[in-house]
Amino acid sequence: MSAQRTVLATQVGIVGGGPAGLMLAHLLGRAGIGTVVLEARDKDTIHATHRAGILEAATVEMLAGSGVDGRVLTEGHEHRGTVLRFEGESRRIDFQELVGHSVRLYPQNEVFWDLANARERDGGDIRWSVTDTEVLDLTTDRPAVRFTDAAGERFELRCEFLVGADGSQSICRRAIPDEERTDNFIEYPFAWFGILAEAPPSAPELIYSNSEHGFALVSSRSETVQRMYFQCDPDEDVDDWDDERIWAELQRRVRGPDGLRLQEGPIFDKTVLKFRSYVCEPLRHGSLFLVGDAGHTVPPTGAKGLNLAFCDVRVLAPALVEFFRSGDDSGLAGYSAQALERVWKAQNFSYWVTNLMHTQPGENPFNQKRRRGEFRAVTASEHGAAYFAESYTGWPGDR
Ligand code: DHB
Repeated sequence: MSAQRTVLATQVGIVGGGPAGLMLAHLLGRAGIGTVVLEARDKDTIHATHRAGILEAATVEMLAGSGVDGRVLTEGHEHRGTVLRFEGESRRIDFQELVGHSVRLYPQNEVFWDLANARERDGGDIRWSVTDTEVLDLTTDRPAVRFTDAAGERFELRCEFLVGADGSQSICRRAIPDEERTDNFIEYPFAWFGILAEAPPSAPELIYSNSEHGFALVSSRSETVQRMYFQCDPDEDVDDWDDERIWAELQRRVRGPDGLRLQEGPIFDKTVLKFRSYVCEPLRHGSLFLVGDAGHTVPPTGAKGLNLAFCDVRVLAPALVEFFRSGDDSGLAGYSAQALERVWKAQNFSYWVTNLMHTQPGENPFNQKRRRGEFRAVTASEHGAAYFAESYTGWPGDR
């Protein structure tokens, strides 16, 4: 086969067309900076992939305030608090009262949809369904990406900076030599079994519930579609679980003296979500910058993933704009350290809530009792509850 490639040029090449890559492309586009976004999947596949649904106020502001779309405000639901439940005892954390902020429930795949549509509306260049993606010349001032487009045509995209926004299996990250990066990671001995069901909401706010049988999360998508999760084995096979078995498991994980019962209905989506905490240090290598899951992954408890990706973009976008405006590269030089500040705070929160609310397989009963003490200490104290509320809604310096 001939090595003939069509050469393209842009200022910032973005590998990955998920929310992080598209948000960056959107903000750079508004500042007049050229981008090309390369994405391995097609638009409809990403839209149909269900992820978390909680947006911090700063994430909402980035979407609604930068002209992406107001759907997050009209179709998303404000949550002014959340419920932590332990062995059937519920405690509400009132975000508004404790820290004066709230979050919004608006699914990540809709965030993606709004961003992809905004980019197309604004004439942004996105190449869907690309294959054979390969990054090169990362330590020069002319890095490049080679790829084959959906029609089978081969390209080389030359740019001034490359951004790896290509998720937890990032090819950009793997192109950084081993000796130039530190991989910090831990795994967990459990996963989440996520479902979507046709049913009315079971509660007005989310319920994070620990029980002796393990964790469950009661979330929602609309008046007619509910999202729920329960702790499971990482190797669980979704085909071993029919609707009856899933509902029985969810019901026993929220059971308590208050008689809480979940509203049941037909389940139309089942997935197992793996748990991992990971941070790549640094988040820069030469002309390559990593954003979002490409640079760090959090376990889903607390829904920090997308919010953290947008925090990266809030640091990187103005640094790139400043560089192209004045040649000042101090923002770019500080990107990794500044983004990692927030990343490690969120890593700590996600790890902490995960361990507070989950039961380790085969653990010493001491631990469950200790966690009950921790639950009471957090929820029965205004300061403890405010710590949770501030971490969940987003830290002040990051708004
Ligand atoms: C959802 C997912 C989360 O991980 C979480 O902490 C809260 C909500 C969700 O999918 O709705």
